[in-house]
Amino acid sequence: MSLLASLPRIVEACRQEYERALREDVPATFHVSDRMGSPGENRLILGDNLDWLHRLVKSGEGLHKVSLIYVDPPFYSGSNYRAEVRISTEKQKIKGMKSNAYQDRWGGGMEGFLSMLTLRLMYMKELLTEDGGIIVHLDWRAVHYVKVIMDELFGQKRFVNEIIWNYKSGGVSTRSFAKKHDTLLYYAGGNRHYFHAKKEKSYNRAFKPYRFKGVKEYKDELGWYTMVNRKDVLDVDMVGRTSHERTGYATQKPERLLEILLESCTKPGDLCADFFAGSGTLAAAACRMGRSFMVCDSSPLAIAASRKRLTSMDAPYVYYISEKEKNSTSATVKAEVETRETISRQALCRVRLTKYERSCRNLPVSDAEKAALEKLQAADPLALVDYWCIDRNYDGVNFQTQQWFAREKADLRTEAEFLTGPARRAAIKVYDVFGGFGIMEIQV
Ligand SMILES: C[S@@+](CC[C@H](N)C(=O)[O-])C[C@H]1O[C@@H](n2cnc3c(N)ncnc32)[C@H](O)[C@@H]1O
Repeated sequence: MSLLASLPRIVEACRQEYERALREDVPATFHVSDRMGSPGENRLILGDNLDWLHRLVKSGEGLHKVSLIYVDPPFYSGSNYRAEVRISTEKQKIKGMKSNAYQDRWGGGMEGFLSMLTLRLMYMKELLTEDGGIIVHLDWRAVHYVKVIMDELFGQKRFVNEIIWNYKSGGVSTRSFAKKHDTLLYYAGGNRHYFHAKKEKSYNRAFKPYRFKGVKEYKDELGWYTMVNRKDVLDVDMVGRTSHERTGYATQKPERLLEILLESCTKPGDLCADFFAGSGTLAAAACRMGRSFMVCDSSPLAIAASRKRLTSMDAPYVYYISEKEKNSTSATVKAEVETRETISRQALCRVRLTKYERSCRNLPVSDAEKAALEKLQAADPLALVDYWCIDRNYDGVNFQTQQWFAREKADLRTEAEFLTGPARRAAIKVYDVFGGFGIMEIQV
């Protein structure tokens, strides 16, 4: 059957699946893994976005709460994507290790891809506020089919913009025009979406002044220009190899692109969500711009990159982890602990991190790399540590990060001193470069 003829069938099958799931399926379990600072509404979630979306809609917790959903799903490229994993200790360095982050291959071809996205879009629609909007970021491969599906789900009248992100890198070919843009479909969630038109420079022809009556003109080093409403073609460079933004996560988008979208489509304080979060670009931009964020990804490497990014910005958030991921990423942590009584009921603890060990068997790297990593761990028991944190007042269930120490290039601080709370129970939690973690309780 032609794809054109399949589209109504895809939408109908997803609709039936959506209604059945809402009637019958028990929401999947997500655990709060830890909290950073005072998170407000900020949430980072490791797990399949379908499980998280189902939970938000079925419980009613997420209905009409999100002002902007931006999603940058796989593009139907047929590729596997990898993330750079940097392992660098005082003794050892593994350069250029790439770990499988996610696959963009679909059983059932384009139909399989469209079914995956359509079902999720049905849930997302229910989360939008009356003045909210959704932006779906795709490229030439699938965007035209998704446009037709979104017209059906959201209504043609709610289509606000086709936004072109124009960049310089990639897309070289001798058999076609170089492919240098992605397409973002912007739909309103309700009848009146919020939009703040921002201005941008528009250079005059030949950079010369027009001197039209009533038109204000300006001049910079290039020449004369006027200020016009921002256009739907956004010229923003990709994240370069040497950019300070670079996380090493394949398909990372530039924060500037997200800033432009947030500036116009949201207000400070609004909740923004990305259910295909990757390295957390939306979360980082939202946080810098005083918006709240809810971002989810099923790849531990994506979440590791997001966590590192958000933690380095001191962003507060709650970190949720799905039941499945919780069981697949645990590791052993050992530390030497010295304690001293104080005149209050608190105890003074001095900890020295001595070991972090996880099985490399299930890591998304080649067999040779797994063997190299096992050897590395044997030689340096903290080799895989990315960063670690302390909860001075651990309640045995919810980890609240109060102090954290990240590896800076090869350097990792391994000792810390702190006062426990009156319950005299603390914990340290250690994250590795692959997004796995282990926890050690300290009872004084
Ligand atoms: C194109 S990348 C997003 C990149 C991101 N915008 C950034 O700037 O880093 C797509 C992401 O979708 C995630 N993904 C794919 N299927 C998913 C699913 N079912 N649930 C959650 N995340 C998923 C992948 O792990 C990948 O990180």
